[in-house]
Amino acid sequence: MPKRSKLFKTGDSFGNSEQALMLKEYWIHIYCGDALLELDKITDNSVDCIITDPPYFLDKMGDDWNKEKLEEASQKSKVIGGLPVGMKFDSKQGIALQKFYTIVSQKLYRVLKPGGFFLSFSQPRLSHRMAIAMEDANFEVRDMYAWHYSQKSQAKAFSMDHFIEKRNISDTEKERIKKKLAGRKTPQLRPTFETIVMTQKPREGGFVDNFLKWGVGLIDTKITLDGKFLNTVMMVEKPSREKYNCHLTVKPVRLIQHLIEIFTSKGQIVLDPFLGSGTTALACKKSGRKCIAIEINRDYIEIAKTRIKGEVYDKY
Ligand SMILES: C[S@@+](CC[C@H](N)C(=O)[O-])C[C@H]1O[C@@H](n2cnc3c(N)ncnc32)[C@H](O)[C@@H]1O
Repeated sequence: MPKRSKLFKTGDSFGNSEQALMLKEYWIHIYCGDALLELDKITDNSVDCIITDPPYFLDKMGDDWNKEKLEEASQKSKVIGGLPVGMKFDSKQGIALQKFYTIVSQKLYRVLKPGGFFLSFSQPRLSHRMAIAMEDANFEVRDMYAWHYSQKSQAKAFSMDHFIEKRNISDTEKERIKKKLAGRKTPQLRPTFETIVMTQKPREGGFVDNFLKWGVGLIDTKITLDGKFLNTVMMVEKPSREKYNCHLTVKPVRLIQHLIEIFTSKGQIVLDPFLGSGTTALACKKSGRKCIAIEINRDYIEIAKTRIKGEVYDKY
């Protein structure tokens, strides 16, 4: 178990925060609040690594969820208003995400140690916006991971029959159009991967000097996933939907733990400014890292607490 860090001493800006939830046994510190405000409370160059899965600004995936809506949505197996979550296409969403994420990234840049890594999950169709936001905040874009899963996810493409049926034309004409469009669907592929943009805060000097001074900037190539050497494609199954966790976008603990072990050393601090149901914090606990996290939705923090304390069994 990591030793108590000076950063968490009672009386400092963390220990005094009324809203902070501190799980002392594991050195996990969760703030309930807006990341844009809470990040300003963190000391310059104090965080070793940032791993996060931000809100994507897609339909029904913002931060305006309450518990009832979430439970209702998860019961409907992610289908909301007849459309799967995140399906409605609007290019303005990407632009909004980039604007928001540029500000977030600027704030993250200040708190991360020189040479520290900042990894950000994204839907493939938004990765370009995310990478540019991170680069505009002065991070160096180093690579892109694909988190690959094999489970069948919901096919997003749908046929035009419903719309043809609604047309004010004869049945014969409807049948003729349906035949012409047979097999044709909306341009949405079945998702089997998510991207993770891998960036680094510029080092102070060379790799060795930076590592000796800050303890970060190099990856640990001894870490493997299912016995395989580090690879940009990581195959890890999606967590199954658990009763105690109504969050819609839970990441596998094993995947986050794998990333934490590559990019940090034991006892170091991982920051997740969009904690959701607590996956990063749980992965920190399992890998002997400290965690600072922010989440705007109190219901999710309650789920995170239960998971971290081991009151529920997390398969992944
Ligand atoms: C994609 S989810 C993270 C899911 C997480 N990886 C997990 O495994 O449970 C993003 C989270 O960011 C939270 N969020 C949205 N806007 C926020 C903000 N301004 N500050 C802090 N958290 C925010 C949402 O409530 C949501 O839980």
